[in-house]
Amino acid sequence: MNLLQLEKYFHQRLKANYPDSEIENFFFWTLEEILGIQRIDFVLQKNNAVDYQNIDRIKKVIQRLRNEEPIQYIFGSTEFYGLLFNVSTDTLIPRPETEELVEWIIETVKQDEYLSSLSELRILDIGTGTGCIAITLTKLIPSANTTAVDISKNALTVAESNSALNEVNVHFVISNVLELSSLENEFDIIVSNPPYVRNSEKIEIKNNVLKYEPDTALFVEDDDPLLFYRKIGKLSLDSLTNNGYLFFEINQYLGEETVDLLSKLGYQHIELRKDLFGNDRMIKCRLS
Ligand SMILES: C[S@@+](CC[C@H](N)C(=O)[O-])C[C@H]1O[C@@H](n2cnc3c(N)ncnc32)[C@H](O)[C@@H]1O
Repeated sequence: MNLLQLEKYFHQRLKANYPDSEIENFFFWTLEEILGIQRIDFVLQKNNAVDYQNIDRIKKVIQRLRNEEPIQYIFGSTEFYGLLFNVSTDTLIPRPETEELVEWIIETVKQDEYLSSLSELRILDIGTGTGCIAITLTKLIPSANTTAVDISKNALTVAESNSALNEVNVHFVISNVLELSSLENEFDIIVSNPPYVRNSEKIEIKNNVLKYEPDTALFVEDDDPLLFYRKIGKLSLDSLTNNGYLFFEINQYLGEETVDLLSKLGYQHIELRKDLFGNDRMIKCRLS
């Protein structure tokens, strides 16, 4: 089988499961991972034969994709904000919406005269997962001194591998934020993308997420969906500096409720922002 025939075979085996554009992305991702061939070189190499061993490996990838396994878990990595991150089924796969949150934080720091003048900007990321938020901020903000917390030991192992991969130092801490009575240190930026999907919203969630991504990273009980926001909001009252900012990624259906909760806790200058899909997705606020 040559590369062109392989492409046809790949599409034919997956067309019942995915739209064409997605299959095309999967095909080129697989080609690069398994054969080391980049998309731009495909045309030149399309008549080259693929050996049996590699065809076998690619068939196994196709089978896993047919089982709705995310390609990021199959190859164990993904890109976030132009950086490479390891992922495993112990970590959420970083989302484009979260890249927008990171962008907002970087923009805020740049535009804030006081924060950008600090020689050390203390950042706390709660529920770090792969470490995508903490590591990207540390990579892009030279003054960042970053601490990142997660309840999952396995997720923290992945996050540690990612800080080495991206050559930054982040202080990782294993902790259940819901059981903390204080945050111990002061921080200029506190950020969290906590679990926020209500169990009742599971019907809207695709199988590839439901079957493979960790429940602890995603879901909260219907009767108290904002528990992480309330807890982190309260903890931050004593730990966020007066010139600092608290950032959250939020459930698109609970924008107004989350703003209301933060306002009742005493936060000021609360801004609710939509993501690139037009959904309420992130909040920025301050103590004064
Ligand atoms: C939505 S994921 C976010 C992961 C990553 N920050 C991102 O944006 O892709 C939520 C993370 O919070 C962690 N988490 C869940 N419950 C927690 C708790 N009680 N204390 C600390 N972390 C928790 C999960 O393990 C998961 O990594």
